[in-house]
Amino acid sequence: MATAAPAIDIGIPEAQRLEIATGLGRVLADSTVLYAKTHGFHWNVTGPMFNTLHLMFMGQYTELWNALDAIAERIRALGCPAPFGGATYGQLSSIAESQGIPAALEMVRELVLGHEAVARTIRGVMVTADGANDQPTADLLTQRLQIHEKTAWMLRSLLEA
Ligand SMILES: [Fe+2]
Repeated sequence: MATAAPAIDIGIPEAQRLEIATGLGRVLADSTVLYAKTHGFHWNVTGPMFNTLHLMFMGQYTELWNALDAIAERIRALGCPAPFGGATYGQLSSIAESQGIPAALEMVRELVLGHEAVARTIRGVMVTADGANDQPTADLLTQRLQIHEKTAWMLRSLLEA
């Protein structure tokens, strides 16, 4: 007979673990949708800024892709399933898909809005993580916030005179 896994007992009450994991699921969904959008823009961007934006978007989607694993595995460490699948992410994400293929600077504008949207989602979860004394989640989310806010600034700078 298989040995039963012990109940999770890391010092965070179950209700708070579930609430944090649910919030992290929304962060994962936002990050995944933004990842896919950024990669799609990398493929489809055209115009005089092609080289700059093609390369910039590659750096950004690579960073996002690497972050997905850390977010999903934090959800697992909290004892919950990590959401996956396109339709699931579509339901959980606060970021809308693009309508067709935007012009180059419209892509930049959409990505500014996307990074800011993830930052807002993260701040909502941060309140719960702080309240539950969940430092690993707060640390992960702090790192993600830094990246999203810095990336939003860099993208926004392309649109400013
Ligand atoms: Fe490529």
